[in-house]
Amino acid sequence: MRFSLLVTFFGIGAVLMAVAVVFMYGTDGSGEPRTPAEHGRRLFRLQGCASCHAIGGGISRGPDLAGLIPRLSARLTDTAYRSHLDSLRVARPDAHAFFAPRYERVLGTQGEERIKVWFAEHLRNPRFDHFTGLMPDYDHLTEEQVDRLTAFILTLK
Ligand code: HEC
Repeated sequence: MRFSLLVTFFGIGAVLMAVAVVFMYGTDGSGEPRTPAEHGRRLFRLQGCASCHAIGGGISRGPDLAGLIPRLSARLTDTAYRSHLDSLRVARPDAHAFFAPRYERVLGTQGEERIKVWFAEHLRNPRFDHFTGLMPDYDHLTEEQVDRLTAFILTLK
């Protein structure tokens, strides 16, 4: 009797551990992310983004990324982005001239495509349109990793 109680106890323990592992790693139980956005969510943790960016509360050294897409869309409209760039041109003409081709790339697109292009530039060098920024470069990411992170951030509505 005692022995079977012990077995039950450990059995329940093992099930709870398994549930905790699946919960912590945020997968569907098969252990592997499937969609690009799921891969991106995983990269967000593995690349250390989560150590600076909370999503919807908690300690966050960088901006909390909840509601990112509407915020970015508002910041990247033709008028808002051009006036932001104009003020940078006055403040730091040298840096502005250096990064000008990247602004053209961003402004040459529209809608969701503009967010994608901006985000790719932001990962390559977060200071390209924010000269005093504190986020580190992610220039080492492959194109596939950038695509997956992009799919993930596009879910932050
Ligand atoms: C060391 C801390 C740190 C790390 C690590 C970091 N960031 Fe950032 N991030 C920042 C800061 C600070 C800003 C604000 C702009 C700046 O200072 O460059 C920012 C800005 C952003 C923004 C724009 C947010 C907004 O509301 O304007 C996005 C999107 C972003 N980071 C995504 C990422 C992703 C994706 C990663 C991982 C690949 C990452 N960050 C890693 C600190 C960090």
